[in-house]
Amino acid sequence: MKWWKTYSKDTVQRLLQFNSLRTPTYQSCITGDSRNVDIAAIIEKQTPDFGKLLGTKKINGIFSSPPYVGLIDYHEQHAYAYDLFDFERNDDKEIGPLFRGQGKNAKENYVQGISGVLNNCKKYFANDYNVFLVAQL
Ligand SMILES: C[S@@+](CC[C@H](N)C(=O)[O-])C[C@H]1O[C@@H](n2cnc3c(N)ncnc32)[C@H](O)[C@@H]1O
Repeated sequence: MKWWKTYSKDTVQRLLQFNSLRTPTYQSCITGDSRNVDIAAIIEKQTPDFGKLLGTKKINGIFSSPPYVGLIDYHEQHAYAYDLFDFERNDDKEIGPLFRGQGKNAKENYVQGISGVLNNCKKYFANDYNVFLVAQL
């Protein structure tokens, strides 16, 4: 209950803050495996006009907070959400999960995973793009 209350309050705070900063831009939340999710096809289906714009102007960059090697099992951390909303679990698709450890194999799989994500993003990028990744030192 302690964490439930903490995160519930935090969520409301973030929504309020976002509401005060929000601009009249189009936002879309897409779920999927970031190594192969087809952003263009999904956007095209959701909002054809925006899909066309994405095809011609492309994406100027991404900001991402990726997982690290063997630190967290995100499905477990958010197990309550999968139970509450009956979301399908995809534990085996997590990049760098705790359950795979931090050994040589895990590190190699992690490099493959993050490279796969960046390569999947790259096809949507305009010529002069920026990539911001949150990194833990
Ligand atoms: C450090 S967290 C950042 C979460 C969120 N961006 C934030 O700032 O609160 C890393 C996220 O990457 C997600 N993730 C791991 N493997 C993934 C994959 N193959 N495709 C998409 N997301 C993945 C995890 O589930 C987790 O939510």
